[in-house]
Amino acid sequence: MATGQDQRPEGAPATPILTVDDYERIARDALSEPVYDFFAGGAVDERTLARNRAAFERWLLRPRYLRGAAAPDPSTRLLGVPLAFPVLVAPVAYQRLLHPEGELATRRAAARVGTVMVVSSTAADLLEDVAAAAEGPAWWQLYLWRDRGAAAELLARVREAGYGALVWTVDLTTWGRRLRDLRTGFEVPPALVPSAHDPEPDLRWEDLAWIRERAAGLPVLVKGLLTAEDARLALEHGADGVVVSNHGGRQLDAVVGSLEALPEIVETVQGRVPVLMDGGVRRGTDVLVALALGASAVLVGRPAAWGLAAEGERGVAGALSILRDELESAMALTGCRTLADVGPALVRPAG
Ligand SMILES: Cc1cc2nc3c(=O)[nH]c(=O)nc-3n(C[C@H](O)[C@H](O)[C@H](O)COP(=O)(O)O)c2cc1C
Repeated sequence: MATGQDQRPEGAPATPILTVDDYERIARDALSEPVYDFFAGGAVDERTLARNRAAFERWLLRPRYLRGAAAPDPSTRLLGVPLAFPVLVAPVAYQRLLHPEGELATRRAAARVGTVMVVSSTAADLLEDVAAAAEGPAWWQLYLWRDRGAAAELLARVREAGYGALVWTVDLTTWGRRLRDLRTGFEVPPALVPSAHDPEPDLRWEDLAWIRERAAGLPVLVKGLLTAEDARLALEHGADGVVVSNHGGRQLDAVVGSLEALPEIVETVQGRVPVLMDGGVRRGTDVLVALALGASAVLVGRPAAWGLAAEGERGVAGALSILRDELESAMALTGCRTLADVGPALVRPAG
């Protein structure tokens, strides 16, 4: 795949990759338009996609000084797993469209920088290979299949392969209407679609008990919640964590940006289980704002995808490292020595 360097005309000065957005620009040049649009796009008018980003601009940081935070430590633990910094790789489908090594490269990169990759259900045919591609924890994202026999077999394989948690995605009861894909005629190559891929459209809270039973002790997180009501139900049905998410703006348009939904869910959960969020995190300061509003950690989808398209494993590690470095810098500049110093007093609404 093309890299920033490959694309430089001879003799031209190097353009350093400094931000996650730099990776997106390189990825956009490297990918065909339909594939780029599939990864970049959202549902319908992409209002929610835009809100995911815009929501971060509605918060400002309140820095504190003279607190000995010159060399901050962004490490944390999440459900027993040590993380070098509180940014996980979100489940993203069909990564071999971005790079021939696809999910394997992403898994190695996540392990290399000390975080967790959540592997998409759409990689079911590869799940053992992805698990074995690196040391260190990986989690499995689940779409509950209509065929419960096949779903149970899949979960047995997931456990056997050593995945450390299940992340059950509940916001895909039907496919979001993604106009870019309809316009470009994008279709997932059949070779990348796992054989038993037929998500259950009629999901119920009771299904969480079925999943927990087959998880056999692995933590189960529920991904795709946007309301306090559903967060309460997730707790009542035994979820070990929740992920505030609108699927990167790809499912229902005109819903809140994820960061906008975070406070009511944090307030409902009251620290009983970890609350994660994803959607629009592109900067270390975004991570800091989400944590100040009560997230235990965030996930990033497209940033890792752009790194993968640009430079394979190195690019995914590069994109994640940029977020880690930016977070460390933001912690130093706001007086946070560790993530224990990050709390509500660190932010205020932007007028
Ligand atoms: C191309 C693409 C494919 C995705 N595939 C999945 C998936 O298979 N399972 C899932 O739970 N979420 C999936 N998501 C949603 C991500 O896990 C995550 O919620 C979202 O990308 C976060 O927003 P961000 O891309 O702005 O970081 C996908 C997102 C994108 C962009």
